[in-house]
Amino acid sequence: MSITVILGAQWGDEGKGKITDLLAADADLVARYGGGDNAGHTVTVGTERFALHMIPSGILYPRVTCLLGGGMVINPGRLLEEMDLLADRSVDVSSKRLKLDGRAHLILPYHIALDGVSERARGGAAIGTTLRGIGPAYTDKVARTGIRAQELLHPSTDLERRVCDQVAAKNLLLERVYGQPPLDAGTIVQVLLTHAQRLAPYISDGTEEISHALRSRKRILAEGAQGTLLDIDLGSYPFVTSSNPTIGGMMTGLGIGPHNIERVVGVVKAYQTRVGAGPMPTEAGGEAAEVLRGTGAQPWDEFGTTTGRPRRCGWLDVVSLRFAVQVNGLTELAITKLDILSRFDEIPVCVAYQLDGQRLETLPTDVAILERCRPVYENLPGWGTDITGVRVFSDLPPAARGYVTRIEELLGVRASYVSVGPGREQTIHW
Ligand code: IMP
Repeated sequence: MSITVILGAQWGDEGKGKITDLLAADADLVARYGGGDNAGHTVTVGTERFALHMIPSGILYPRVTCLLGGGMVINPGRLLEEMDLLADRSVDVSSKRLKLDGRAHLILPYHIALDGVSERARGGAAIGTTLRGIGPAYTDKVARTGIRAQELLHPSTDLERRVCDQVAAKNLLLERVYGQPPLDAGTIVQVLLTHAQRLAPYISDGTEEISHALRSRKRILAEGAQGTLLDIDLGSYPFVTSSNPTIGGMMTGLGIGPHNIERVVGVVKAYQTRVGAGPMPTEAGGEAAEVLRGTGAQPWDEFGTTTGRPRRCGWLDVVSLRFAVQVNGLTELAITKLDILSRFDEIPVCVAYQLDGQRLETLPTDVAILERCRPVYENLPGWGTDITGVRVFSDLPPAARGYVTRIEELLGVRASYVSVGPGREQTIHW
C-alpha cells in the first residue's frame, strides 16, 4: 500500500499544487489522473512561482517521475508549451521523467471551438467553463469517437482520415447550428503530425508504469485536479467539469485498485471559493468577499490561474465538506490559506443549511434545491495576528488552533497539514 491520493474537497482551487509539491518530496512517481489544462496548480519555490496546468508539480523534484494519466484530456500544443516553459527554467522534462499514458484523449481545435460556441449559446445559463475544450473532448471520449494519445505513436493515413472525419462532423455543427466558419482539416492534421513527432517519446502505458512502480515498492502520489463538487457524477450538475475529480476517477484514470491506496488527503481551503456558475450557499458579498479575494496584486489572491477570472468567495461550507469526506473516504485533511482568515474578527462556518424552515445536514443532489438553501453559521473567534511565520501547530494563536480543531471535529477527520502562506516552508505538518 504505497499510494497517497491528493484531491480537492471543494470547487477546485483548494491549493492542491502546493500540497502535491510538499508530498512529492517523498515520492518517486507523481501521477495526475484527470482533467486537462482547465486546471491551474501554483507552486512557489523560494522566489520562483510555477503555474502548471497539466504537468504534475512533482516535476520540480529532479528524481521524481511524472505521469499524465489515461483519464486526462491533453491539448498537445499546450502540453508542449508547458514543457518548453519548464525547460526554459532548467527543469528536466525529458521522456525519462515525464510520461503520457497513451489512453489519454486529445483536445483538438474543434473541441475548443465547440466549447466556446456552446457556452455562448447557453447565454444566461452558461456553465462558465474554462473554454479549454474539456467538455467536448470528454464528450467524444464517451461517444467513442475521440482520438487518443497513443495514436500519435504511429501516425497513419487512418489517423489522418479519422481527424478529417471528426473535423467534417464538427464543421456541420459549427456552421449549421452555430453559424460559425468551418475549421480546416488539413491544417489541424499538419499541426497534429508535428506535435506527434515531439510527443511520441513520452507516450507509454500508464497503468504499466504504475504497476511497475508498485512492484518496485516505489512511493506513488496521485494528484487530482478540480474538486469533489465539480465531479461530473457527484458534483453540482450541470455546473461541473466533465471528469471525475473524486477518488473513483483516480482509480479509472490511472488504473489502480482500491487496496493499493494508503492515504486520501482532502485539500480544503480554510474558506470557500468557486469559479463559474452554479449554487454556492456560503457565498459572501461586500467587504468580506473583497478581503477574501484580495486585489489580484498577489499571485495567491483569488483570481483563476487558468482564466484570470475573479473567484466567488465565501465561508467554509461543512455540509459540502462532509459529503467530500464521505464520497472520497478522506483519511486526512490539508487545510490551506488559513493565514487569509487572520483579517477577520469573527469567522462564520456553515454547519448546516436551512431550507423551507427545516435544518438540513446533508448536501441536496438537486442544484435547484441547493440554490434555495441558506447557510446556518457557527461563528468562531478570529485571531487578529499574522500567522504566516508560524511553523509549529502549538505556536498558532489559540483561536487559529480552535478553528482547525473545530473543522476536524465537524468532519470527523484529522488535519495533518495547515498552510499559512504560499511558500513551501509556510506549512505546519504533524
Ligand atoms: P470546464 O472544466 O472548463 O468544462 O469547466 C466546467 C466548470 O468547472 C466551470 O465552472 C469551471 O470554472 C470549473 N473548473 C474547471 N477547472 C477548474 C479548476 O481547476 N479550478 C476551479 N474550477 C474549475
